[in-house]
Amino acid sequence: TGVLSVASEVFPLIKTGGLADVAGALPASLAAHDFAVRTLMPGYPDVMRQIENADIACRFDDLFGGPARVLAATAGGLDLLVLDAPHLFDRTGGPYVSSAGHDHADNWARFAALSTAGAEIGQGAIPGFAPAIVHAHDWQAALTPVYLAVSGKPRPRSVVTIHNLAFQGNFPYQIFPRLGLPPSAWSIEGVEYYGNVGYLKGGLHAADAVTTVSPTYAEEILTPGGGMGLDGLLRGRGERLVGIVNGIDTDVWNPKTDPDIPHHYSARSPKARQRNKRALETEFGLAHEDGPIVAVVSRLTWQKGLDLVADACDDLVERGVRMVVVGSGEPMIEGSFQAAHTRHPNKIGVRIGYDEALSHRVQAGADAILVPSRFEPCGLTQLYGLRYGCIPVVAKVGGLADTVIDANHAAITAGVATGFIFAPPTRDDLIDAVDRMQRLYADPAAWRQLQLSAMQSDVSWRSSAGHYAQLFRDLIGDQRP
Ligand code: ADP
Ligand code: GLC
Repeated sequence: TGVLSVASEVFPLIKTGGLADVAGALPASLAAHDFAVRTLMPGYPDVMRQIENADIACRFDDLFGGPARVLAATAGGLDLLVLDAPHLFDRTGGPYVSSAGHDHADNWARFAALSTAGAEIGQGAIPGFAPAIVHAHDWQAALTPVYLAVSGKPRPRSVVTIHNLAFQGNFPYQIFPRLGLPPSAWSIEGVEYYGNVGYLKGGLHAADAVTTVSPTYAEEILTPGGGMGLDGLLRGRGERLVGIVNGIDTDVWNPKTDPDIPHHYSARSPKARQRNKRALETEFGLAHEDGPIVAVVSRLTWQKGLDLVADACDDLVERGVRMVVVGSGEPMIEGSFQAAHTRHPNKIGVRIGYDEALSHRVQAGADAILVPSRFEPCGLTQLYGLRYGCIPVVAKVGGLADTVIDANHAAITAGVATGFIFAPPTRDDLIDAVDRMQRLYADPAAWRQLQLSAMQSDVSWRSSAGHYAQLFRDLIGDQRP
């Protein structure tokens, strides 16, 4: 059965965050359920460079101001459909922002174009490819089900997955006439959203089903506090909103084979982890000493609660904790970490920037990974931490609460604990959780058990791909117009 996945970033071709990891890993896991996924993504320069021997699958004479073609190619183990539209995607900067860090002014057109292409391909634009399901990820792809719904032609079933409700793709009314939607789409049932055009809003309405990336986040977004203005609409989706927790690609993230880490190890023989830790100390210029290293690998933003970590740095150092930070984001938080490094040069190491290979070395060498998010749809770094024996210390929100088992007395006794959970996300509660972590770290047998349970957690896509497959089968069986 054919599936068209539509996403604005896909690992290993281009990545700014967890969306890419998910869009890149889910197709292979769905194959085990007899779903053959083709992935439509924009032809950014980095993507165009990585595809070879592409075939032209279809063309558009005028797609939001210029000609475009869809190139079919395989790369990174994925069956890709790349939207080659130079007037929209051939430019410097990131997928969403210019080199100067500002949103591209025509993002509304760039991602309406992606969705238009998704809808056209969903309805047969590529000869021989008739997907039964179109799976659109986040606001950048969310108009796809809207275009499908208004077409009046036979159409595949549609699913929108919310990776982060904080990013909704809202644009001024003035763009509406240029979207190629009928006037009737300007309504509460369509894309109208408080007088603006809401891409995600429209998609959440039009899709046959909506998913998000953990069961707890699926509940949080039904509340005014977590719904970011869309809780009413989402409550209205009833049983057609489901939370399916993300997995990770356990081949890319495998400490036994990872080409990015200096020393390989496994749950059963974790000894070499210690050598990775020494290498990490050297890489970050940290003192070689006993005591744990805690790590941050993240966008440095309010969502991620990393201002709390920055505020806690001095207390943590005083407690004998060393820290490595890899990330970029809000200048204030970047600056706080850089200042902390200046105060404690051999206790706190900081790399401002994005470095995929370094993120692997950190997970393989640090003792714990801090994820103090104020909200977190799923979160992937705690899953990488589990897999690598880098114990997660996480806030009790969203997917973090769903994937980590707190090391409370009962869980330790039962040998099932995998990390530390704290609430609410404040500086003091974070410090308390690190204190608990340190107490267990000081007991080698207990720490060893914790690490073993963490590394044996099932963080693969196996079970969650089954949930997506079941949803797809339900939708295909449920062919109401
Ligand atoms: P989000 O998508 O909200 O940023 P996730 O935890 O789902 O959060 O995914 C973040 C992904 O980006 C993970 O794969 C993480 O390792 C990676 N990542 C974040 N910041 C960096 C960085 N500075 N360098 C390398 N990888 C990073
Ligand atoms: C978003 C969320 C993150 C999630 C990722 C992949 O970026 O912020 O929590 O893990 O998408 O679904």
